[in-house]
Amino acid sequence: MTRVAVIGAGPSGTAQLRAFQSAAQKGADIPEVVCFEKQADWGGLWNYSWRTGLDEFGEPVHGSMYRYLWSNGPKECLEFADYSFEEHFGKPIASYPPRAVLWDYIKGRVEKADVKKWVRFNTPVRMVTFDEGTRKFTVTAHDRINDRMYAEEFDNVIVASGHFSTPNVPYFEGVESFGGRVMHAHDFRDALEFKDRDVLIVGRSYSAEDIGSQCWKYGAKSVTTTYRSKPMGFNWPERFEERPLLTKLVGKTAHFRDGTTKEVDVLILCTGYLHHFPFLPDDLRLITANRMWSDGLYKGVVSTSNSQLFYVGMQDQFYTFNMFDAQAWYIRDLILGRITLPSPAELQAEFDSWRAREEALEDAEQMIWFQGDYVQELIDATDYPSFDIQGTNKTFMEWEHHKAENIMGFRDNAYRSLMTGTMSPKHHTPWLEELDDSLETYLKN
Ligand SMILES: Cc1cc2nc3c(=O)[nH]c(=O)nc-3n(C[C@H](O)[C@H](O)[C@H](O)COP(=O)(O)OP(=O)(O)OC[C@H]3O[C@@H](n4cnc5c(N)ncnc54)[C@H](O)[C@@H]3O)c2cc1C
Ligand SMILES: NC(=O)c1ccc[n+]([C@@H]2O[C@H](COP(=O)([O-])OP(=O)(O)OC[C@H]3O[C@@H](n4cnc5c(N)ncnc54)[C@H](OP(=O)(O)O)[C@@H]3O)[C@@H](O)[C@H]2O)c1
Repeated sequence: MTRVAVIGAGPSGTAQLRAFQSAAQKGADIPEVVCFEKQADWGGLWNYSWRTGLDEFGEPVHGSMYRYLWSNGPKECLEFADYSFEEHFGKPIASYPPRAVLWDYIKGRVEKADVKKWVRFNTPVRMVTFDEGTRKFTVTAHDRINDRMYAEEFDNVIVASGHFSTPNVPYFEGVESFGGRVMHAHDFRDALEFKDRDVLIVGRSYSAEDIGSQCWKYGAKSVTTTYRSKPMGFNWPERFEERPLLTKLVGKTAHFRDGTTKEVDVLILCTGYLHHFPFLPDDLRLITANRMWSDGLYKGVVSTSNSQLFYVGMQDQFYTFNMFDAQAWYIRDLILGRITLPSPAELQAEFDSWRAREEALEDAEQMIWFQGDYVQELIDATDYPSFDIQGTNKTFMEWEHHKAENIMGFRDNAYRSLMTGTMSPKHHTPWLEELDDSLETYLKN
């Protein structure tokens, strides 16, 4: 029997499990699927961990999420086409759910599909090798509960281990003698730690925006973000400012490229993450930056070095959960032989064409339409329920405009589901006033 290994049970890995289960439900013969998950539960980043550094087994902590994190985009843009929010919660809910609500939703679909039995929890994958003779992979995993390493053979490997967990940590002159706390966003857990502090954040992307906003919301004395390329440019409130890049730290004084200085207590590096696959040898390892069209992947999912090896969710992301679904369904159909890949020359030509388009993208709006086209291409090739991608793009556009209007209030807006057509209710409490991010409080609409 064909055997498929899935590495990781986050949104990407669970999409893969659901894709196979959905084919089986419709009568298809499916391979044996084994999912290796290093954490004790599924949901990936959405499974919050209070830990930082190493976990109870000495493994690097996967979690980069923090308390009070709410979705940074409308839930309508990430909704599963085969399992709506309304089906899961039994009623329409507001548009920017906190982490616990989204975790519950992710779990709900795969609990319904009854695929937990395919997952081996507390089991990090240590190594994957490929034998050219047998054309099989050997996956070596570590069962942490019984502290036992073992190896098994597979016909296909699908890497769904995420790429927002290994911090990218640049050096700034004087940081070693900085008089305050230094950390990367990966280790940020609770904004209350920085109440009454002057916080300096390096970066201008989503972590900088959201961690900065959180620190401000939970009472930081001031928030200063410092950018390398260009400012975020939102209408920030009082006590929140953007400055050109940090050049050095002297004691607790931060120096910026424009010659200005500021006294700060805390330095939070929101400088992004590395694609990091310590369990893959050179010939199988994906090497790419965080970009809209990844290096090393045909169709955004097939390894250019081995067509039996796949990756899910490796792109920079506007689309998330339903893009992972589109990819997972596509990979499933390649493995089931329902889709045949074109010749290597045609694949390369397609790759080059997407890459050329990616390199011409100028702003977030163009990136959203680009990623929408990619999702559309994949779902057109499988039986993943078709949904209104143009409408989803337009919801993303509304979201962008709401952020430009009011960066501290955009989460108070509501949008229509592209899956059910239902208009979402507005949340009962403005985001800025809502300090409780629990599922119970959020659902009290
Ligand atoms: C701080 C933060 C906030 C975010 N907020 C949003 C948001 O609001 N909305 C949104 O749509 N997206 C958000 N994202 C994007 C996020 O990438 C996706 O939502 C989603 O979690 C990606 O799913 P994934 O399965 O690809 O990766 P992950 O969620 O990272 O899951 C990967 C899984 O693989 C497991 N794993 C890793 N290595 C191994 C190994 N060697 N062996 C076995 N298992 C392994 C991990 O334990 C984990 O469970 C956020 C990301 C971050 C970092
Ligand atoms: N739900 C939420 O609210 C939430 C919160 C946080 C994160 N997220 C998600 O998490 C993911 C990762 O976001 P991210 O912001 O951590 O990473 P990211 O999008 O990759 O951005 C990395 C940032 O670091 C900057 N940077 C990198 N190296 C630098 C250097 N040497 N000096 C100065 N700046 C440097 C980059 O600057 P340039 O722009 O100049 O290249 C960029 O602004 C995204 O998918 C995001 O949506 C969501």
